Amino acid sequence: MANRIKVTFQPENRVVEAGPGETLLDVAALAGIYINSLCGGQGVCGKCRLKVLSGEVEFSSRGIGFLDRKEVDEGYVLACQSTLKDRDVEVWIPPESRREEEQILMVDNIVQYGAPSSQEAGAAPVPVPYYEPLCHKVFLKLPEPTLKDNLSDLERIYRALAQKFPDVKWEADFACLRNLARLLRDNHWEVTALVHALDSHCHHVRSLEPGDTTRNAYGVAVDVGTTTIVAQLVDLKSSQVVGVEASHNQQARYGEDVISRMIYACGHGGLDPLKNAVVTTINTLVNSLVAGAGIQHTDIISFVAAGNTTMTHLLLGLEPCTIRLEPYIPTATRIPWARAAEVGLTGHPDALLHCMPCVSSYVGGDITAGVLACGMNDSPQLSALIDIGTNGEIVVGNNEWLVCCSASAGPAFEGGGTKCGMRATKGAVQKVRIRGDRLEIQTIGGGKARGICGSGLIDCMAELVAEGIIDQSGKFVRLDHPRVREVDGVPEFVLAKETESETGEPVVITEDDIGNLMKSKAAVLAAMKVLLESLGLRFSDLDRLYVAGGFGAHLDIEKSIRIGLLPDVPREKVLFIGNSSLGGARQALLSTHAYRKANAIARQMTYFELSVHPGFMDEFVAALFLPHTDQSLFPSVQEALKNRQREEALLK
Ligand code: FES
Repeated sequence: MANRIKVTFQPENRVVEAGPGETLLDVAALAGIYINSLCGGQGVCGKCRLKVLSGEVEFSSRGIGFLDRKEVDEGYVLACQSTLKDRDVEVWIPPESRREEEQILMVDNIVQYGAPSSQEAGAAPVPVPYYEPLCHKVFLKLPEPTLKDNLSDLERIYRALAQKFPDVKWEADFACLRNLARLLRDNHWEVTALVHALDSHCHHVRSLEPGDTTRNAYGVAVDVGTTTIVAQLVDLKSSQVVGVEASHNQQARYGEDVISRMIYACGHGGLDPLKNAVVTTINTLVNSLVAGAGIQHTDIISFVAAGNTTMTHLLLGLEPCTIRLEPYIPTATRIPWARAAEVGLTGHPDALLHCMPCVSSYVGGDITAGVLACGMNDSPQLSALIDIGTNGEIVVGNNEWLVCCSASAGPAFEGGGTKCGMRATKGAVQKVRIRGDRLEIQTIGGGKARGICGSGLIDCMAELVAEGIIDQSGKFVRLDHPRVREVDGVPEFVLAKETESETGEPVVITEDDIGNLMKSKAAVLAAMKVLLESLGLRFSDLDRLYVAGGFGAHLDIEKSIRIGLLPDVPREKVLFIGNSSLGGARQALLSTHAYRKANAIARQMTYFELSVHPGFMDEFVAALFLPHTDQSLFPSVQEALKNRQREEALLK
């Protein structure tokens, strides 16, 4: 047997064994410890620093640029660039290298489509219209055959089903015939059919089991996010949610964003680890749901997954390589159903998996699910749905038409590409208030600051411009403010000094960070403006603006408008709809009609390619201002600014 090396991770004191040549990043994951790996282990982000306390590792020179001399002498290495040699090792993980539990949005304020009276986000849940789960169970008590009633066993089942569902044609999988004769006779002609109701005219019996098991029929709706995965357990008989669990997508060790995962998947042998990682994450959530609800895995007969196009491909083990390369073609947008077991998901052996349909390479099933969940496709009102992350996906339309686009917003909203940026995890600054020289910050978890997350950056930028510390082009103008300092000629605002932060390093927002954030917000606003104008519309024509996703849930509407991330529409028109990807997946789980509707939405949505639009770059440049170079687009912000100037003049 190959030499096994003991690796001890501190401060947990967790010990695992691994072989020579394995990276510390992989060994940490093996130990259930997740380390920041923004670049997926390529050695180019420097976020996976560990300190070797004893023993020795092979440290590739590739990572050396991220460590200074003192750190190297102290034993710091990059986990992804350090491989085990032949001796036991003990390492310490500094807090900033640890991927803490993210604020995961597990709730959805879905608007029930087809129920106009309740079309308000946050409205009390009402039964899903056309309630008929994609998969459900039907108990059959068959009459015993006689010489007069001598139908075959299968026809006898069809007849019983037709009596319960007179308008439906019935078919059965061939596998149902095996042992059917014995199954019926051994169980006094009482069996339960697992029914797949995808086609409204013709339902399929996928399997048969002895006795009445209709009480044990559950489904799982899954939001397959790039960063986090959320799973809801739903009782298919009562339509009640009986549990919800969430965790990091274990694919993160192969890259934090979609592009780095595509690159990994398309490298030699990269697809299987990525598929296994997402399947393992979902199965782990399912294990917790099953244990929490006191049910069996075999009680789960249906899964519905909603994810972006790349995540959907990776879950199904489909190569995502052509998604990334011009002309950006996915293997499929409308995905045929599959046996969940074939994909690797644990449930009933005949449980089925349906994926929410995608529109294009960059508008996926999560967005289709979002449209379904907010119901904009059923309303005559003009609505826009915006989902902001590293990509900003935007859908505009009503019950007659839907147009969508996707703009690359860069990593700033997710805490990347900024000096002290981090994801929305414990210790991230998420709220900032500046009044004169006074500064108040609020961190996730309430402890000392470790960095700043996307919504914190937006909050901070809005405060800086409101206080006149930066100007509308994002440049520092109040260099005399006690929290402003210059480092190597670059001004920065100090949110937490060395003595105030958790890491002993200051938490700052620099002029470059502000520039990056302005590019991100400009890309999103410009995309929405170009999309609307190409339809002959303006922001003021919108009746509703739905903001979806985890990042959206923590946004401050007023501040988002003040910096020009969201358009200046009356505030009551803006609705945060939470995790609408999960909400849409659950609707499809509970309603065949909803699933078919999602397919119709995906077919109906016209994808608008921004990259070839001649006006996009001009709009992008025009939006590189706070809130915008065309101030008339932001009348309420202008008004607030004037009022403030008036008040200040009076005080002088
Ligand atoms: S440098 Fe190690 S994960 Fe990026």
